[in-house]
Amino acid sequence: MNKTLAEITRTDFPLLQNYSRGDQNLIYFDHAATSQKPFKVIKDLETYYSYWNANVHRGAHQLSAKATQDFEKSRIITANFVGSNSPEEIIFTRNATEAINLVSRSWGDKEIKEGDEIILTIMEHHSNLVPWQLLSERTGCILKYAGITESGELDIDDLKNKLTNRTKLISLVHISNVLGCCNPIAEVSKLAKAVNANVLVDACQSLAHQSINVRKLGIDFLVGSSHKLCGPTGIGFLWAKEEILEEMPPFLGGGEMIQDVFLEKSTWADLPHKFEAGTPAIGEAIGMGSALKYLEKIGMDNIQAWEKILINHMFNKLSNIRDLTILGPTPTIQPKRGALATFHIKGVHANDIAEILDAKNICIRSGHHCCQPLHRYYGIASSARASLSFTSTMEEIDTFVEELIETIDFLKSNS
Ligand SMILES: Cc1ncc(COP(=O)(O)O)c(C=O)c1O
Repeated sequence: MNKTLAEITRTDFPLLQNYSRGDQNLIYFDHAATSQKPFKVIKDLETYYSYWNANVHRGAHQLSAKATQDFEKSRIITANFVGSNSPEEIIFTRNATEAINLVSRSWGDKEIKEGDEIILTIMEHHSNLVPWQLLSERTGCILKYAGITESGELDIDDLKNKLTNRTKLISLVHISNVLGCCNPIAEVSKLAKAVNANVLVDACQSLAHQSINVRKLGIDFLVGSSHKLCGPTGIGFLWAKEEILEEMPPFLGGGEMIQDVFLEKSTWADLPHKFEAGTPAIGEAIGMGSALKYLEKIGMDNIQAWEKILINHMFNKLSNIRDLTILGPTPTIQPKRGALATFHIKGVHANDIAEILDAKNICIRSGHHCCQPLHRYYGIASSARASLSFTSTMEEIDTFVEELIETIDFLKSNS
Protein backbone atom coordinates (compact mmCIF):
# COMPACT_ATOMS: atom_id res chain seq x y z
CA MET A 1 0.00 0.00 0.00
CA ASN A 2 1.20 3.50 -0.78
CA LYS A 3 2.46 5.48 2.19
CA THR A 4 0.59 8.62 3.21
CA LEU A 5 2.41 11.94 3.11
CA ALA A 6 2.47 11.96 6.91
CA GLU A 7 4.18 8.55 6.96
CA ILE A 8 6.77 9.77 4.46
CA THR A 9 7.57 13.08 6.19
CA ARG A 10 7.00 12.55 9.91
CA THR A 11 10.42 11.11 10.61
CA ASP A 12 11.94 14.35 9.26
CA PHE A 13 10.78 16.15 12.41
CA PRO A 14 12.74 15.50 15.62
CA LEU A 15 10.12 16.95 17.95
CA LEU A 16 7.32 14.82 16.51
CA GLN A 17 9.37 11.72 17.27
CA ASN A 18 11.00 12.60 20.54
CA TYR A 19 8.25 14.18 22.54
CA SER A 20 6.03 11.90 24.56
CA ARG A 21 4.54 11.95 28.06
CA GLY A 22 4.15 8.54 29.61
CA ASP A 23 2.89 6.30 26.83
CA GLN A 24 1.09 9.18 25.10
CA ASN A 25 2.73 10.33 21.89
CA LEU A 26 2.55 14.01 21.15
CA ILE A 27 -0.31 15.20 18.97
CA TYR A 28 0.72 18.62 17.77
CA PHE A 29 -2.32 20.38 16.32
CA ASP A 30 -1.01 23.93 16.63
CA HIS A 31 0.73 24.29 13.27
CA ALA A 32 -1.12 27.53 12.53
CA ALA A 33 0.62 29.15 15.51
CA THR A 34 4.00 27.81 14.49
CA SER A 35 5.13 24.80 12.50
CA GLN A 36 7.60 22.16 13.63
CA LYS A 37 11.11 22.23 12.13
CA PRO A 38 12.64 19.39 10.13
CA PHE A 39 16.16 18.03 10.80
CA LYS A 40 17.36 19.56 7.52
CA VAL A 41 16.54 23.12 8.62
CA ILE A 42 18.11 22.60 12.06
CA LYS A 43 21.18 21.09 10.41
CA ASP A 44 21.53 23.98 7.95
CA LEU A 45 21.32 26.48 10.81
CA GLU A 46 23.96 24.49 12.68
CA THR A 47 26.18 24.34 9.59
CA TYR A 48 26.04 28.11 9.14
CA TYR A 49 26.89 28.81 12.78
CA SER A 50 29.53 26.05 12.93
CA TYR A 51 31.33 26.62 9.61
CA TRP A 52 30.39 29.88 7.90
CA ASN A 53 29.42 32.30 10.66
CA ALA A 54 30.36 35.80 9.48
CA ASN A 55 28.59 39.04 8.73
CA VAL A 56 27.21 39.50 5.23
CA HIS A 57 27.88 42.03 2.45
CA ARG A 58 30.76 43.87 4.10
CA GLY A 59 33.57 41.38 4.48
CA ALA A 60 36.51 40.87 2.17
CA HIS A 61 37.25 37.48 3.68
CA GLN A 62 36.06 34.10 2.47
CA LEU A 63 33.79 33.43 5.41
CA SER A 64 31.83 36.59 4.74
CA ALA A 65 31.66 35.78 1.03
CA LYS A 66 30.22 32.31 1.78
CA ALA A 67 27.74 33.70 4.36
CA THR A 68 26.65 36.36 1.86
CA GLN A 69 26.27 33.78 -0.90
CA ASP A 70 24.05 31.53 1.23
CA PHE A 71 22.06 34.47 2.61
CA GLU A 72 21.39 35.82 -0.90
CA LYS A 73 20.58 32.31 -2.15
CA SER A 74 17.74 32.25 0.37
CA ARG A 75 16.38 35.42 -1.17
CA ILE A 76 16.35 33.75 -4.59
CA ILE A 77 14.65 30.66 -3.12
CA THR A 78 12.02 32.86 -1.43
CA ALA A 79 11.39 34.80 -4.64
CA ASN A 80 10.93 31.56 -6.60
CA PHE A 81 8.69 30.13 -3.89
CA VAL A 82 6.15 32.95 -4.34
CA GLY A 83 6.47 33.09 -8.12
CA SER A 84 8.59 36.24 -8.40
CA ASN A 85 11.40 36.22 -10.92
CA SER A 86 13.26 38.99 -9.15
CA PRO A 87 15.03 38.46 -5.80
CA GLU A 88 15.20 42.27 -5.45
CA GLU A 89 11.48 42.06 -4.73
CA ILE A 90 12.08 40.12 -1.51
CA ILE A 91 12.74 42.16 1.62
CA PHE A 92 13.73 40.16 4.69
CA THR A 93 11.91 41.28 7.82
CA ARG A 94 11.61 39.85 11.34
CA ASN A 95 8.18 38.37 10.59
CA ALA A 96 4.99 39.04 8.65
CA THR A 97 3.90 41.63 11.21
CA GLU A 98 7.01 43.70 10.56
CA ALA A 99 6.47 43.34 6.82
CA ILE A 100 2.96 44.86 7.08
CA ASN A 101 4.31 47.63 9.30
CA LEU A 102 6.99 48.30 6.67
CA VAL A 103 4.33 48.77 4.00
CA SER A 104 2.05 50.89 6.18
CA ARG A 105 4.94 53.15 7.29
CA SER A 106 6.85 53.45 4.06
CA TRP A 107 4.26 53.11 1.28
CA GLY A 108 1.36 54.29 3.46
CA ASP A 109 2.97 57.47 4.80
CA LYS A 110 4.01 58.45 1.27
CA GLU A 111 0.93 57.50 -0.73
CA ILE A 112 -2.02 57.79 1.64
CA LYS A 113 -3.69 61.13 2.29
CA GLU A 114 -6.61 62.29 4.39
CA GLY A 115 -9.89 60.93 3.00
CA ASP A 116 -8.25 58.04 1.12
CA GLU A 117 -9.79 54.66 1.83
CA ILE A 118 -8.30 51.31 2.80
CA ILE A 119 -10.44 48.17 2.77
CA LEU A 120 -9.71 45.43 5.30
CA THR A 121 -11.94 42.56 6.41
CA ILE A 122 -13.36 41.73 9.82
CA MET A 123 -11.50 38.40 9.79
CA GLU A 124 -8.03 40.00 9.80
CA HIS A 125 -5.31 39.07 12.29
CA HIS A 126 -4.36 42.02 14.53
CA SER A 127 -1.15 42.26 12.46
CA ASN A 128 -3.24 43.35 9.50
CA LEU A 129 -5.44 45.71 11.50
CA VAL A 130 -3.32 47.69 13.94
CA PRO A 131 -0.69 49.00 11.43
CA TRP A 132 -3.55 50.43 9.33
CA GLN A 133 -5.24 51.93 12.37
CA LEU A 134 -1.94 53.65 13.17
CA LEU A 135 -1.71 54.87 9.56
CA SER A 136 -5.26 56.19 9.80
CA GLU A 137 -4.31 58.11 12.97
CA ARG A 138 -1.28 59.60 11.19
CA THR A 139 -2.96 60.48 7.91
CA GLY A 140 -6.72 60.72 8.47
CA CYS A 141 -7.42 57.93 5.95
CA ILE A 142 -10.63 55.94 6.31
CA LEU A 143 -10.64 52.24 7.13
CA LYS A 144 -13.54 50.16 5.84
CA TYR A 145 -14.18 46.54 6.73
CA ALA A 146 -15.64 43.94 4.40
CA GLY A 147 -17.86 41.48 6.26
CA ILE A 148 -18.34 37.74 6.07
CA THR A 149 -21.18 35.55 4.89
CA GLU A 150 -23.26 33.24 7.05
CA SER A 151 -21.04 30.33 6.04
CA GLY A 152 -17.95 32.20 7.28
CA GLU A 153 -16.48 33.25 3.93
CA LEU A 154 -15.48 36.68 2.68
CA ASP A 155 -18.58 38.60 1.62
CA ILE A 156 -17.34 39.66 -1.80
CA ASP A 157 -20.52 41.67 -2.52
CA ASP A 158 -19.97 43.67 0.64
CA LEU A 159 -16.36 44.28 -0.43
CA LYS A 160 -17.56 45.44 -3.87
CA ASN A 161 -20.02 47.83 -2.20
CA LYS A 162 -17.23 49.31 -0.11
CA LEU A 163 -14.97 49.92 -3.10
CA THR A 164 -14.88 53.52 -4.39
CA ASN A 165 -12.51 55.57 -6.51
CA ARG A 166 -10.96 56.74 -3.22
CA THR A 167 -9.89 53.15 -2.37
CA LYS A 168 -6.10 53.00 -2.39
CA LEU A 169 -5.51 49.58 -0.87
CA ILE A 170 -7.28 46.32 -0.10
CA SER A 171 -5.33 44.44 2.53
CA LEU A 172 -6.61 40.97 3.35
CA VAL A 173 -5.71 37.55 4.59
CA HIS A 174 -5.39 34.67 2.11
CA ILE A 175 -6.42 31.86 4.48
CA SER A 176 -7.98 33.04 7.73
CA ASN A 177 -6.23 31.73 10.85
CA VAL A 178 -9.65 31.38 12.51
CA LEU A 179 -12.23 30.67 9.81
CA GLY A 180 -9.88 28.66 7.62
CA CYS A 181 -11.61 30.17 4.58
CA CYS A 182 -9.48 30.72 1.49
CA ASN A 183 -10.21 34.15 0.07
CA PRO A 184 -10.57 34.71 -3.70
CA ILE A 185 -7.46 36.86 -4.07
CA ALA A 186 -7.37 36.98 -7.89
CA GLU A 187 -10.97 38.20 -7.94
CA VAL A 188 -10.23 40.83 -5.26
CA SER A 189 -7.20 41.99 -7.30
CA LYS A 190 -9.35 42.46 -10.40
CA LEU A 191 -11.80 44.57 -8.41
CA ALA A 192 -8.96 46.60 -6.91
CA LYS A 193 -7.29 47.24 -10.27
CA ALA A 194 -10.54 48.57 -11.70
CA VAL A 195 -10.21 51.51 -9.28
CA ASN A 196 -6.39 51.64 -9.37
CA ALA A 197 -6.02 50.31 -5.85
CA ASN A 198 -3.21 48.09 -4.59
CA VAL A 199 -3.66 44.70 -2.91
CA LEU A 200 -1.71 43.36 0.05
CA VAL A 201 -2.07 39.68 0.89
CA ASP A 202 -1.32 38.25 4.32
CA ALA A 203 -0.21 34.76 3.29
CA CYS A 204 0.84 33.58 6.77
CA GLN A 205 -1.62 30.68 6.75
CA SER A 206 -1.50 29.76 3.08
CA LEU A 207 2.18 29.67 2.09
CA ALA A 208 2.84 26.33 3.82
CA HIS A 209 -0.31 24.74 2.44
CA GLN A 210 -0.64 25.53 -1.26
CA SER A 211 1.47 26.87 -4.09
CA ILE A 212 1.25 30.62 -4.56
CA ASN A 213 2.17 32.78 -7.51
CA VAL A 214 2.10 36.52 -6.90
CA ARG A 215 2.05 37.33 -10.62
CA LYS A 216 -0.92 35.08 -11.30
CA LEU A 217 -2.77 36.54 -8.32
CA GLY A 218 -2.18 40.04 -9.72
CA ILE A 219 -1.32 41.49 -6.31
CA ASP A 220 1.13 44.18 -5.19
CA PHE A 221 2.34 43.08 -1.74
CA LEU A 222 2.53 39.71 0.01
CA VAL A 223 3.83 38.94 3.50
CA GLY A 224 4.89 35.71 5.17
CA SER A 225 6.61 34.37 8.31
CA SER A 226 9.27 31.66 8.18
CA HIS A 227 8.25 30.04 11.47
CA LYS A 228 4.91 29.00 9.94
CA LEU A 229 6.79 27.46 7.01
CA CYS A 230 8.94 24.92 8.84
CA GLY A 231 11.66 27.57 9.17
CA PRO A 232 13.20 29.41 12.11
CA THR A 233 11.59 32.25 14.07
CA GLY A 234 12.92 35.79 13.73
CA ILE A 235 12.67 35.97 9.93
CA GLY A 236 9.87 36.73 7.53
CA PHE A 237 9.55 38.59 4.29
CA LEU A 238 7.76 41.14 2.23
CA TRP A 239 7.34 40.57 -1.49
CA ALA A 240 6.36 43.69 -3.41
CA LYS A 241 6.45 44.72 -7.05
CA GLU A 242 9.82 46.19 -7.87
CA GLU A 243 8.37 49.40 -9.31
CA ILE A 244 6.48 50.03 -6.06
CA LEU A 245 9.50 49.29 -3.86
CA GLU A 246 11.62 51.66 -5.96
CA GLU A 247 9.26 54.52 -5.12
CA MET A 248 8.99 53.70 -1.41
CA PRO A 249 11.21 55.55 1.10
CA PRO A 250 13.26 53.51 3.61
CA PHE A 251 11.50 52.11 6.66
CA LEU A 252 14.40 51.92 9.15
CA GLY A 253 17.68 53.81 8.87
CA GLY A 254 21.23 52.69 9.71
CA GLY A 255 24.00 50.54 8.31
CA GLU A 256 23.53 48.34 5.20
CA MET A 257 20.67 50.41 3.77
CA ILE A 258 22.77 53.37 2.62
CA GLN A 259 24.84 54.24 -0.40
CA ASP A 260 26.56 57.39 0.92
CA VAL A 261 26.32 59.04 4.29
CA PHE A 262 27.19 62.69 4.85
CA LEU A 263 26.70 64.66 8.03
CA GLU A 264 23.77 66.51 6.48
CA LYS A 265 22.06 63.75 4.51
CA SER A 266 22.35 60.24 3.14
CA THR A 267 21.50 58.34 -0.03
CA TRP A 268 20.02 54.86 -0.16
CA ALA A 269 21.29 51.50 -1.29
CA ASP A 270 19.64 49.70 -4.18
CA LEU A 271 16.84 47.20 -3.65
CA PRO A 272 16.43 45.15 -1.59
CA HIS A 273 19.04 46.54 0.82
CA LYS A 274 17.32 49.94 1.08
CA PHE A 275 14.81 48.22 3.37
CA GLU A 276 17.22 46.07 5.39
CA ALA A 277 18.91 48.31 7.96
CA GLY A 278 21.51 46.78 10.27
CA THR A 279 22.86 43.25 10.43
CA PRO A 280 20.12 40.93 9.19
CA ALA A 281 19.04 37.60 10.68
CA ILE A 282 21.62 35.72 8.58
CA GLY A 283 21.33 32.22 9.99
CA GLU A 284 17.55 32.52 10.13
CA ALA A 285 17.36 33.64 6.49
CA ILE A 286 19.48 30.65 5.50
CA GLY A 287 17.18 28.45 7.61
CA MET A 288 14.11 29.89 5.87
CA GLY A 289 15.63 29.10 2.48
CA SER A 290 16.28 25.55 3.63
CA ALA A 291 12.67 25.22 4.87
CA LEU A 292 11.22 26.48 1.58
CA LYS A 293 13.39 24.02 -0.34
CA TYR A 294 12.15 21.26 1.96
CA LEU A 295 8.50 22.17 1.29
CA GLU A 296 9.15 22.36 -2.45
CA LYS A 297 10.71 18.91 -2.38
CA ILE A 298 7.59 17.45 -0.76
CA GLY A 299 5.52 19.34 -3.34
CA MET A 300 2.93 21.97 -2.49
CA ASP A 301 0.26 20.13 -4.49
CA ASN A 302 0.94 16.93 -2.52
CA ILE A 303 0.66 18.90 0.71
CA GLN A 304 -2.63 20.47 -0.34
CA ALA A 305 -4.09 17.13 -1.43
CA TRP A 306 -3.20 15.31 1.83
CA GLU A 307 -4.37 18.17 4.04
CA LYS A 308 -7.68 18.20 2.18
CA ILE A 309 -8.25 14.55 3.13
CA LEU A 310 -7.32 15.35 6.72
CA ILE A 311 -9.60 18.36 7.10
CA ASN A 312 -12.56 16.51 5.55
CA HIS A 313 -12.06 13.77 8.12
CA MET A 314 -11.72 16.27 10.96
CA PHE A 315 -14.92 18.10 9.96
CA ASN A 316 -16.85 14.82 9.67
CA LYS A 317 -15.79 13.86 13.17
CA LEU A 318 -16.26 17.24 14.83
CA SER A 319 -19.66 17.88 13.29
CA ASN A 320 -21.08 14.92 15.27
CA ILE A 321 -20.26 16.51 18.62
CA ARG A 322 -23.29 17.99 20.37
CA ASP A 323 -23.23 21.76 21.13
CA LEU A 324 -19.99 22.20 19.13
CA THR A 325 -19.99 24.99 16.54
CA ILE A 326 -17.21 25.22 13.96
CA LEU A 327 -16.41 28.68 12.62
CA GLY A 328 -15.83 29.13 8.90
CA PRO A 329 -16.99 27.23 5.82
CA THR A 330 -17.24 23.44 5.75
CA PRO A 331 -14.99 21.68 3.20
CA THR A 332 -18.16 20.91 1.22
CA ILE A 333 -18.98 24.60 0.89
CA GLN A 334 -15.36 25.57 0.28
CA PRO A 335 -13.14 22.66 -0.86
CA LYS A 336 -10.04 24.92 -0.85
CA ARG A 337 -10.43 25.87 2.82
CA GLY A 338 -7.40 25.58 5.10
CA ALA A 339 -6.57 22.57 7.26
CA LEU A 340 -7.68 23.98 10.58
CA ALA A 341 -10.86 23.85 12.61
CA THR A 342 -11.81 26.56 15.09
CA PHE A 343 -14.74 25.78 17.34
CA HIS A 344 -16.61 26.74 20.47
CA ILE A 345 -18.85 24.67 22.69
CA LYS A 346 -21.87 25.90 24.56
CA GLY A 347 -21.16 26.10 28.29
CA VAL A 348 -17.50 25.11 28.04
CA HIS A 349 -14.49 27.45 28.08
CA ALA A 350 -11.95 26.96 25.29
CA ASN A 351 -9.01 27.42 27.68
CA ASP A 352 -10.25 24.58 29.89
CA ILE A 353 -10.43 22.30 26.85
CA ALA A 354 -6.90 23.20 25.76
CA GLU A 355 -5.50 22.68 29.27
CA ILE A 356 -7.10 19.28 29.76
CA LEU A 357 -6.04 18.15 26.28
CA ASP A 358 -2.51 19.29 27.05
CA ALA A 359 -2.47 16.93 30.02
CA LYS A 360 -3.19 14.20 27.46
CA ASN A 361 -0.27 15.42 25.33
CA ILE A 362 -2.46 17.07 22.70
CA CYS A 363 -1.53 20.65 21.77
CA ILE A 364 -4.29 22.88 20.45
CA ARG A 365 -4.75 26.65 20.70
CA SER A 366 -7.35 28.53 22.68
CA GLY A 367 -8.13 32.23 22.97
CA HIS A 368 -8.94 34.89 20.40
CA HIS A 369 -6.05 33.91 18.06
CA CYS A 370 -5.24 37.63 17.55
CA CYS A 371 -8.67 38.11 15.96
CA GLN A 372 -10.64 39.94 18.63
CA PRO A 373 -12.95 41.81 16.23
CA LEU A 374 -13.94 38.52 14.56
CA HIS A 375 -14.69 36.92 17.93
CA ARG A 376 -16.76 39.97 18.91
CA TYR A 377 -18.69 39.60 15.65
CA TYR A 378 -19.59 36.04 16.67
CA GLY A 379 -20.37 37.18 20.23
CA ILE A 380 -17.76 34.92 21.81
CA ALA A 381 -14.65 35.76 23.83
CA SER A 382 -12.58 32.80 22.76
CA SER A 383 -12.50 29.62 20.73
CA ALA A 384 -10.40 26.48 20.42
CA ARG A 385 -8.42 25.75 17.28
CA ALA A 386 -6.90 22.51 16.01
CA SER A 387 -4.58 23.16 13.09
CA LEU A 388 -3.00 20.46 10.96
CA SER A 389 -0.04 19.98 8.67
CA PHE A 390 1.14 17.42 6.13
CA THR A 391 2.69 15.48 9.03
CA SER A 392 -0.74 15.02 10.68
CA THR A 393 -2.43 11.62 10.53
CA MET A 394 -6.00 10.31 10.45
CA GLU A 395 -5.26 8.35 13.64
CA GLU A 396 -4.21 11.56 15.40
CA ILE A 397 -7.50 13.16 14.40
CA ASP A 398 -9.42 10.15 15.76
CA THR A 399 -7.55 10.27 19.08
CA PHE A 400 -7.97 14.04 19.32
CA VAL A 401 -11.72 13.82 18.76
CA GLU A 402 -12.13 10.94 21.26
CA GLU A 403 -10.21 12.89 23.89
CA LEU A 404 -12.12 16.06 23.07
CA ILE A 405 -15.47 14.31 23.62
CA GLU A 406 -14.25 12.93 26.95
CA THR A 407 -13.01 16.40 27.96
CA ILE A 408 -16.30 18.08 27.07
CA ASP A 409 -18.26 15.46 29.04
CA PHE A 410 -15.97 15.92 32.03
CA LEU A 411 -16.22 19.73 31.94
CA LYS A 412 -20.00 19.65 31.50
CA SER A 413 -20.49 17.22 34.35
CA ASN A 414 -18.37 19.44 36.62
CA SER A 415 -19.94 22.77 35.71
C1 LIG B 1 -3.17 35.18 9.41
C2 LIG B 1 -2.00 35.67 10.19
N1 LIG B 1 -1.49 36.87 9.91
C3 LIG B 1 -0.42 37.35 10.55
C4 LIG B 1 0.18 36.64 11.56
C5 LIG B 1 1.36 37.22 12.25
O1 LIG B 1 2.49 36.45 12.06
P1 LIG B 1 3.83 36.83 12.82
O2 LIG B 1 3.49 36.88 14.28
O3 LIG B 1 4.77 35.74 12.48
O4 LIG B 1 4.24 38.15 12.31
C6 LIG B 1 -0.33 35.39 11.91
C7 LIG B 1 0.24 34.62 13.01
O5 LIG B 1 -0.44 33.91 13.72
C8 LIG B 1 -1.45 34.88 11.20
O6 LIG B 1 -1.97 33.70 11.47
